[in-house]
Amino acid sequence: MNQLQLTELDKQLAEALKSIARRQDIKAYLEQNEQMNRLVRRAAAQYVTGEQRHEAMIAAARLEQLGYAVSLEYIGENTTSEKECELAAQELSDLIAELGASRRSGRVSFDLSHIGLLLDTELALAYLLQLAAQAKPLGIELFISMEESAKTDRILQVYEQAVALHLNIGITLQAHLHRTWEDVTAKLPAQARVRIVKGAYQEDEEICLPRSQALNERYLELLTHVVTQGHQVSIATHDEALIEVILQKGLLDRPGVEFEMLYGIEPELSARLQAAGHPVRIYLTYGQEWYLYLCHRIAEYPPNLYRAVIHMIQEEPIDAIASYGELPAR
Ligand code: FDA
Repeated sequence: MNQLQLTELDKQLAEALKSIARRQDIKAYLEQNEQMNRLVRRAAAQYVTGEQRHEAMIAAARLEQLGYAVSLEYIGENTTSEKECELAAQELSDLIAELGASRRSGRVSFDLSHIGLLLDTELALAYLLQLAAQAKPLGIELFISMEESAKTDRILQVYEQAVALHLNIGITLQAHLHRTWEDVTAKLPAQARVRIVKGAYQEDEEICLPRSQALNERYLELLTHVVTQGHQVSIATHDEALIEVILQKGLLDRPGVEFEMLYGIEPELSARLQAAGHPVRIYLTYGQEWYLYLCHRIAEYPPNLYRAVIHMIQEEPIDAIASYGELPAR
């Protein structure tokens, strides 16, 4: 896909979608209205493998056959009851067990607010420690996603405590936040596994940079720092111009450095990078809580709204994997 210049209208649409993503009344309406739900679910299929774990496992197996590494996320955040936290942690544990049984190493990603961060940081920490202990002997790594800035301190606090015991836990850092440089230089242990993203959440401009050349420069600066410090790094962006600079600077030539891209976004770019011999990981999601995820994916690239409308009325089921490459003929 060509990188388009976003118009003022696109930017306004993006802001509106980020607000819609937070509207519980719209979400509840979609959940209750079966027809509407089915339509929007079709649009979500471009970015979410399905509502059930086995759908994610099938997609993961197909991508691995094509030579990609994978990450899996059971979507969910801001869980506010202990029971829901327990169910989410159980699902993550079942996912780890299934990945282990299929002898797939892989990576499991999640939001700490899905497993208790909003109720009690100790609860989130306890689940994280259990999951990390289960995943370690199976060769599976866990990756903590980064949420809104109001939670950054708590997320880093839980991460620091957990990674001191289990090194198979990675952390996502958002280049758009002004605080991230300090977090990177002050809070990462020597062997930390890091994912660098630009940042998906709407934040006040006092604390973050908007999408801009300045943000890309900061992204590069952070990336260069973590790569030269010898960390294992996932370069999590679909920005082709930025990727070009990263390649020119030789940042991919270091061991343990890879590209990581969201399922269904710029698959041709992933395929080209992989064909050129670069390690590429695809980040797959599944679960019933796909609504917020879909809004984010459209908001960060408003032309996706056209694609969403087309998918809603298209009869053929969407097969996002088809664009990642073809299996070699036997
Ligand atoms: P940017 O938004 O500047 O877009 C650059 C170009 O990339 C666009 O012009 C377009 O060509 C392409 N592009 C970007 N998004 C697209 C889309 N949705 N559809 C089609 N094309 C698109 N964020 C966060 O806050 N916390 C987290 O934990 C994570 N985790 C995470 C994991 C992984 C593996 C990835 C790849 C991303 C995240 N993110 C995230 C999301 C991240 O912060 C960011 O919002 C998106 O990656 C989009 O930003 P880009 O860096 O791609 O560039």
